Amino acid sequence: MAPIVSRPWRDGDERGMEAQHVTVDERELKEFCEQVFIRLGVPPKDAKTTIDVLVLADLRGIESHGVARLPRYVNGVKAGYIKPIERSRVVKETKTTALIDGEQSLGQVVSRKGMELAIRKAKETSVGIVTVRNSNHYGIAGYYTLMALEQDMIGVSMTNAAPLVVPTFGRNAILGTNPISVAAPASRERPFVLDMATSVVPRGKLEVLDRKGLPMPPGWAVDETGRSSADPSRVLNAMAKRLGGGILPLGGEGEEHSGHKGYGLALMVDVFSGVLSGAATGLKVNAEERKPDVGHFFMALDPAAFRPLDEFRLDMDRLARELKVSPKAQGQTRIYVHGEKSFTRMERFRKEGIPLDPKVVEALKKIGSELGVKWPK
Ligand SMILES: NC(=O)c1ccc[n+]([C@@H]2O[C@H](COP(=O)([O-])OP(=O)(O)OC[C@H]3O[C@@H](n4cnc5c(N)ncnc54)[C@H](O)[C@@H]3O)[C@@H](O)[C@H]2O)c1
Repeated sequence: MAPIVSRPWRDGDERGMEAQHVTVDERELKEFCEQVFIRLGVPPKDAKTTIDVLVLADLRGIESHGVARLPRYVNGVKAGYIKPIERSRVVKETKTTALIDGEQSLGQVVSRKGMELAIRKAKETSVGIVTVRNSNHYGIAGYYTLMALEQDMIGVSMTNAAPLVVPTFGRNAILGTNPISVAAPASRERPFVLDMATSVVPRGKLEVLDRKGLPMPPGWAVDETGRSSADPSRVLNAMAKRLGGGILPLGGEGEEHSGHKGYGLALMVDVFSGVLSGAATGLKVNAEERKPDVGHFFMALDPAAFRPLDEFRLDMDRLARELKVSPKAQGQTRIYVHGEKSFTRMERFRKEGIPLDPKVVEALKKIGSELGVKWPK
């Protein structure tokens, strides 16, 4: 039996990690990043939307998808595969559904539009489903389900992504880390906000261990032979050289811990986001430098179509409390509901400032100095 390895950068030593971080005020960080986009020709309203998604990731403690990604978006706009001026259009529509062609606009801007349309439809018909093709990376899946929550609706959001994940029994990465978010409103309890990749870990976590020269826990990734490896450097190298290998789907290697179920979830996301919208799928996502053709899926569902909203909310509360008061595992003091830790972090970071890795700050400052945008004091 493999030893249980804790995830060292997670909650346990989060405060320790933050100690080495630079703390930046939310409003100042947003202002800086928005100005960067505006200098690249993005209209202020769209710059605001994009940065809102990135900074929300940092506020919720999802550093891998926060402003650390700004350089990639800046490069995308400069390289021309992300169009600074939003050009998306609805190409097919019914009362409850719509298909949007993103026309290579910023993924966050198109996606916000997509979820807004889904919500509008749900207000009229109880459900709205919107798929998007020809888009770019949209950030955290949870941003869009939180939009549905603000309207007292259940939200679903999914996206496909560049291939990094190896199918069960395979040895080449074919699917993305294809995230799923589902959010549902509660009353006095926090809402349920599941927001997760369908892989065991994102690539960023292999890179962290590689930089530190530490081994990976078993079941995270496979090397070019298709077997689990403890060596992050070997896996990253094999992936970069396209020799094979990649991250494992949720559940890990083979069938023993149900890797095939995580693989199924990742594939499901590609069916809804890619196949249904006509976007790229599997190996084709991000395959062309000039046209990533990422696909997304958004759904808003009005619980009041089934039962009074208050009853739904109260039952969500009851369910959350049932989980939280249930007996804890030895050594544990608390059971969480999905999204709960992120809400707590958000409140703290809004008050105390957002902790950023000094390397991220350096990269942002460099972009700022190139574009004539001052880093906040
Ligand atoms: N756009 C893309 O291409 C892309 C691809 C992959 C991931 N992502 C994003 O990356 C982010 C991180 O994904 P991840 O899989 O590493 O998330 P994670 O493992 O940190 O969290 C997954 C979910 O579990 C919840 N959670 C955490 N600890 C918990 C506990 N003890 N009890 C109950 N719930 C708990 C979180 O609130 C979250 O809803 C997500 O926001 C996702 O949307 C985006």
